[in-house]
This record gives sequence, C-alpha cells and structure tokens, in this order.
Amino acid sequence: MSLSGKKILIAISGGIAAYKIHFLIRDFVKKGAEVQVIMTPDAENFVTKLSISTLSKKPVYTDFYSDNGTWNSHVEMALWADVMVVAPCTANTLSKMVHGMCDNLVIATYMSAKCPVFIAPAMDLDMYVHPSTKKNLDLAESFGHMIVPAENGELASGLIGQGRMAEPETIAQKVEDFFDSNIKKTLEGKTVLITAGPTYEAIDPVRFIGNHSSGKMGFSLAEEASRRGAKVILISGPSSQKINDQNVELHKVTSAQEMLSKVFEFYDKIDIGIASAAVADYAPKEVAKEKIKKNDESLTIELIKNPDILRTMGEKKTHQFLVGFALETQNEEENAKGKLEKKNLDMIVLNSLRDEGAGFKNDTNKIKIFTKTEKKEFNLKSKDDVAKDILDFVESQLLK
Ligand code: PMT
Repeated sequence: MSLSGKKILIAISGGIAAYKIHFLIRDFVKKGAEVQVIMTPDAENFVTKLSISTLSKKPVYTDFYSDNGTWNSHVEMALWADVMVVAPCTANTLSKMVHGMCDNLVIATYMSAKCPVFIAPAMDLDMYVHPSTKKNLDLAESFGHMIVPAENGELASGLIGQGRMAEPETIAQKVEDFFDSNIKKTLEGKTVLITAGPTYEAIDPVRFIGNHSSGKMGFSLAEEASRRGAKVILISGPSSQKINDQNVELHKVTSAQEMLSKVFEFYDKIDIGIASAAVADYAPKEVAKEKIKKNDESLTIELIKNPDILRTMGEKKTHQFLVGFALETQNEEENAKGKLEKKNLDMIVLNSLRDEGAGFKNDTNKIKIFTKTEKKEFNLKSKDDVAKDILDFVESQLLK
C-alpha cells in the first residue's frame, strides 16, 4: 500500500464536486493512509458527515465545537497532517485561504498547518477564468501550495468549459507522486529481482499442485524497491495481485521450472535477489494429456523433486546479494539458519505459521531476519511495512 501510515487531512468546501470526495477518501484509505476530514458548513449541503465518516473511519468536523461540548482542535489536526488536500476548493474558500479570512474551522486549520497543501479548485467556467480567481491561484502557488487544475467538461450549470474539479484519481496521483518524490532513492542504480506467489505444478489439463501464497509479500517488496529507485524485475507465479507501479517489470510464470528459467534470464545482471515465492518442492513426474477420470478408489501420482531455484541462485552467486525466505511450522530458527547456510544466502527472512497474522494470504506478516552473524526480530506489521523493514536491512548490509 503506497500511502501506508501517511496522514492526510481533507478539507471539503461547498460545491457539487464534493460528491466525488467519497472516491478520493476510499482510495487513500485503501492505500493505507489515515484520513481526517473537515468541512465548511456549506459542504454539508452536498455531502453528509455520515457517509464521509463511514469511509474515513473517523469523525468529521465542521465546527470548532461538537454537540457534546468538546473542542475540535484545528491546531492539533493541522499539526497531525502530513499533507492537507482542499477539495473541492470553491472560489470563496480559495479567496479566504489566500487572504486570511479566518471565519470557519477549515480556514483556521489551514492557517495552522505547516504541511504541504494541495488545492483542487472547482467552480463554474466564468468564475474559474475571472481575474480574481487567477490572482488567488497565483497567490496560493506563491505560498508553495500545489494546485491540481480544474478540468474541462460539462459543469453543474449546464455550461461546458474548464471548472470541473480534477478526478479523484488525478488528485490521488499528485499526492502519491509528492510522497514518492520525498522518498530517498537509496536503491538507485541497483537491479532487484524478486520471486513471488505460488507455483502450480500440472497433474492434468485441469488440476495442479499448488499452495496458499497470494503473492502479497513479493508484490509489496517489488513496489517498495521501485519506490527506492531500483530497477525491479518481479517474477510471479499465479496471483491475483495487481502491480500499481508501472516501473516494475512483471513476468508471470506458472511452474517452478518456468520460474527457474525466467530467473536465469536476468540473474547475471541483478544486484539483489529476493526469493519470496512459495515454490512447490515436488511436481508430478508425468502430466496426463487428458483429464484423469475417477475410475479407481485410489489414485497414486508419482512426484519428482522440483529444482530449488534459490539454491541454484546461491550456487551460481558471483556478486549478487541473496535474500531467502523460510516459511516454517516448527524448529523455526534452526530451519531458517540451515537454509541460510545450505542455499549460500546473505540473509534469510523467517515467517512462522505459528504466529497469528503471519505467512500466507494475510495483509500482515511477522518476521525475524538472520544473517550469519545477526538476528533481528520485528512485530506484526502490514506487508508493506514488512517490505520496508526487509529493504532497510538489506541496505544496511550493503553498506558494510
Ligand atoms: O504470498 P503471500 O500470501 O503474501 O505469503 C508470503 C509467503 C508466506 C509465501 C512468504 O512470506 C514466504 O515465506 N515465502 C517462502 C515460502 C517457502 O516456500 O519457504 P521455504 O522455506 O519452503 O523455502 C525457502 C526458500 O527457498 C524460499 O525463499 C523459497 O522461495 C525458495 N525455494 C524453495 C523451494 C524451491 N523449489 N525453490 C526455491 O527457490
């Protein structure tokens, strides 16, 4: 999740485009952000606190005081935020912002904020091109605020022209780009290869041997490595995960053999290899050409050992920094350290199915990292945050 842990303050002012903010909030929350919404009193004519707070999972404030007499501190909310997004920003709210007309909670919060501010104006076309609006947008820009320009199209008045608030995806992308541009490109110049997901080993044209891996852990690692500036090659078995980062080069494979071949297309050129895939250890010796009929009471399928992709990577290692995973159910640490040694790895990430929330499918994982000389334990976290911990650790090792 690209916005994991980010605190976003959304200020809604009273315009018809306010209805689109539901999509923006849902998108931010889905990407892991914490979202606090405040509204001008007029915004309540367009959207309800109930719908907004249901999506943001936090109370929504329109006034300095709540009905129960508590104070809604504009200062606290302003200082809490990593970014503030004013959307839709009406001509009235824009004017109040740039001239310091502090007569509602939104403006008081805005004037207390020290974080970057995004403004998505929305108004009728003549208002948008009016010299006062243009001057106010210029002023906002001169304050360092980022304007997400209004788009062309049909307006609530029925007129056609520029004034529609930018689409929620456009606003979200600007905010994400802003956070991305602030990430230190610590892996710039490095090529990182990641294996992810399960492998499927065919029994016949309709059946296979597989496992519960969703690919989430590997996809999180790929996106985080790319965010840090690496060239990322992601080789994934069958997975419904989508990659949100277009810079990640995704190669889809099915079986362990295919994954092995794909890995070795790139192996010489990579700097870091991370094997998070749950590769099937065995595959049917023969794949039946036709669907196997259920004629007999029992069925025996002879299995043969699959290639161990990571072990082969370890054997052929020249300059690559290799990270393995160990998925264990017993004697966890001993087994993980054994794999570190046997597969000639630089580091191994242990996750145990005995830890609740760890391993397959979940959005969370709980890991321990081992090198030949070090051990580091981590709490249960989202897989995005686990990816950050793993890459921080890799970087610390590369610096040694
Ligand atoms: O995909 P998710 O649902 O998010 O789940 C994540 C995960 C649980 C799959 C992941 O965190 C994980 O633990 N991946 C490794 C699973 C595994 O197969 O572990 P292992 O202990 O059996 O294998 C040890 C290492 O050798 C792994 O790095 C594995 O990728 C690699 N291996 C194993 C067998 C094989 N034939 N080839 C390999 O490359």
